[in-house]
Amino acid sequence: CGIVGYTGKRAAMPVLISGLKKLEYRGYDSAGVALASNEEIFIRKQSGKVSGLSELIEQDEQLSRLNQAKSGIAHTRWATHGPPTTDNAHPHQGPKRKIALVHNGIIENHNALRDRLKAEGNSFSSQTDSEVLAHLIEHHYNGEDLLGAVTAALKEVEGTFGITCMAVDRPGVLIVARRGSPIVIGLGKDETIIASDASAIITHTRQAIYLDDDDIARIEGSQVDIRSLGAGTVTRTPAEIDWSPDAAEKGGYEHYMLKEVFEQPEAIRNTIRGRIDTTRGTAILSGLNLSPRELVDIRRLLVVGCGTSMNAGLIGEYAVEDFAGIPAEVEQAAEFRYRNPIVGSRDMVLAISQSGETADTLAAVREAVDKGSLVAALVNVVGSTIARETGRGIYLHAGPEISVASTKAFTSQVSVLLMVALKLARAHRLSRENGIQIARAIEAIPSLVEAVLANNDEIAKVAAEYAHYDNAFYIGRGYMYPVALEGALKLKEISYIHAEGYHSAELKHGPIALLEESMPVIALLNNGPGQDKSLGNVAECKARSAPVLGVITKGNEEARKACDHVIEIPECPHYTAVIPAAVALQLFAYHVARIRGCAIDQPRNLAKSVTVE
Ligand code: G6P
Repeated sequence: CGIVGYTGKRAAMPVLISGLKKLEYRGYDSAGVALASNEEIFIRKQSGKVSGLSELIEQDEQLSRLNQAKSGIAHTRWATHGPPTTDNAHPHQGPKRKIALVHNGIIENHNALRDRLKAEGNSFSSQTDSEVLAHLIEHHYNGEDLLGAVTAALKEVEGTFGITCMAVDRPGVLIVARRGSPIVIGLGKDETIIASDASAIITHTRQAIYLDDDDIARIEGSQVDIRSLGAGTVTRTPAEIDWSPDAAEKGGYEHYMLKEVFEQPEAIRNTIRGRIDTTRGTAILSGLNLSPRELVDIRRLLVVGCGTSMNAGLIGEYAVEDFAGIPAEVEQAAEFRYRNPIVGSRDMVLAISQSGETADTLAAVREAVDKGSLVAALVNVVGSTIARETGRGIYLHAGPEISVASTKAFTSQVSVLLMVALKLARAHRLSRENGIQIARAIEAIPSLVEAVLANNDEIAKVAAEYAHYDNAFYIGRGYMYPVALEGALKLKEISYIHAEGYHSAELKHGPIALLEESMPVIALLNNGPGQDKSLGNVAECKARSAPVLGVITKGNEEARKACDHVIEIPECPHYTAVIPAAVALQLFAYHVARIRGCAIDQPRNLAKSVTVE
C-alpha cells in the first residue's frame, strides 16, 4: 500500500494526488484522501484506481474548500483485511470523526481490540484492522495531545504499522509512526511531504529522513519532532535521495515495464561499474565488507528472497557452487523464519530484495541475525529497511523500478550474484586466468542484452503466435532452470495465462500428461552443458503435438529445426546466457500481455512491495 501526507503552505490536494499516482504501483485496489480545512476533515475515497478518485474530486461540490486545505493524508490500498470496497478504503476515522488515519501493515490483535471498543459502544463501518486503530487513537484523544493519543494507542497494538494521522482540531499537525512498514519524511522549505516510499517525494525535495521501527514523529509545516515509542526524543540524520524525478517517469514508453526492460543495458552497467577487476580476475564488492581471509571462512551461502528475487537467487546458487565450490542454497524467505533454520556463524545469509521492504524477507533477515550468521543484503532501494538492518551488502543501482513485474532489478541481481560467486571463487580455488575470463564475460552482459532488445519486433511477432493459448510450460536445465521459473512467473503475472516452470527432465515425470496442441512449451535451449538432452526433451514434447518455442543461441541450426518458433540470443558463456534469455522472455510476456489487453504495469491482485507476511 502507499501513504502520502502533506503539511505546509501550499494546497495539499495536488501534492497528495500526484504522490498517490507515484505510489500506485504499491497497490491499487482503492484510494482515498483526508483534508483538514475550516475545522472539518473532508474524506473522499473509493474503490478502484487513483485516476477514479481524482475524477471524483474534480466533480466535488465542495471542491473549493477541499482546495483550501494546507494539510492532508492519502492512501492507495492493496487489500489485506476485507475486499477492496469504498468502505474499506483509507483514510479511516474514529466514531466521532475527530481523527483520520492511513495505515500500512497489519494489526494482529484487531479482533480483540474491536470487541473491546464495541463493548464501549463503538460501531464500525469497515472490516479493516486499520479502522480499529483509528477508533483506538480517538479513544485516547482528549482534543489536545494527538501525539500522546497515537503513542498510547500504538502501545496497545500488536503487529506492523506505517501510519499517518491527523485531527480535526489540529490542522497542520501530522503524526507519523512506523513498525515494520516504511515511512519516509521529505524535508521541504516551509513544508514536509510524507510517504511510504521516496518516489512520491523526489519531485518536491531530495532531503529525507527514513524512520526506524518504533519511531513516532509530530510534524507541522517544516517542524519535525521525532521520538521513540519506548523512550524520549531521538535524532535521525537526513539522507539525500539519489534518484532523479524523471527516472520514475515513463519517458515515451507505453508502459513502465517496457521502459524498464529497455533500461537494462544501462542498469546493468550501473550495477557492475567499478566492481569488476579484469586484471586480477575478481570482483570488488566493498559493501560486503569482507576480507579474502573472511571470505575463505564462509562455509555455506544461504540465499533468501521472494518471487522474482528468489528466482535470481536460484541462479546465484548455480554460480556459487560452480565457480567457488561452496555449498549454496536458496530458501523461500517466508519459510526460513518458521522452520528454525540451521545456520551458523560461518554461513553467509544473503537476502535479495528489490524494494528492501518485503516483510517475508525482512523477517528472514531478522531470524538470521538472531542466529548469529553473517547477513548481507542485495537491495535496490537505498536506505530501505533490509539494507539498513543488514548493514552490509550490495546496492543494485538499477534505478527505480515502478512496474510491478520485476525486470531490470532481476537482471541486476543476477549480475551481482555472478560477481559474488566470482569473488568467493577467487578467495577459494579459482585461478586468476579463469577469474579474468569470468570477469570479462560479466562485463559483456550489457551488450548481450542490447542484442536481444534489437530483436524486439521479432519477439513481438512470435508472441502474437502464442498469445491465444491459456496455458504454457517453460522448461530449462542447469542455469536455465531458474530462468524457466522466472519466464513462467512473468507470463503469469502480467498476462494471466497459467504458466508453469519445470526442469526440462522433469516434464516426463508427470506434467507431460498435459501436453497436446493447445499446450505450448517454451524451451530454453542455448548452447551449453546438457543441450543434447534438452533437445531430446523438446522432441518428447513435439511427439505429443505441443507447439514449441525455443530460446536458442544464434546460428544453432539443430536447435532451430527442433522448434516451431525461435527467439535467438547471442553466443556467450552459459552462465551469462541466463540474462539475455531472461530478457527475451520478459519481452515475450510483455507482448503477449499487450495483445491480450492486460493492465501490464498494474496486474490485478498484485503489489510491487508486499509489506505484510
Ligand atoms: C512482490 C512483487 C514481486 C517481487 C516480490 C519480491 O510479490 O509482486 O514482483 O518479486 O514481491 O519483492 P522484493 O522487493 O523483495 O524483490
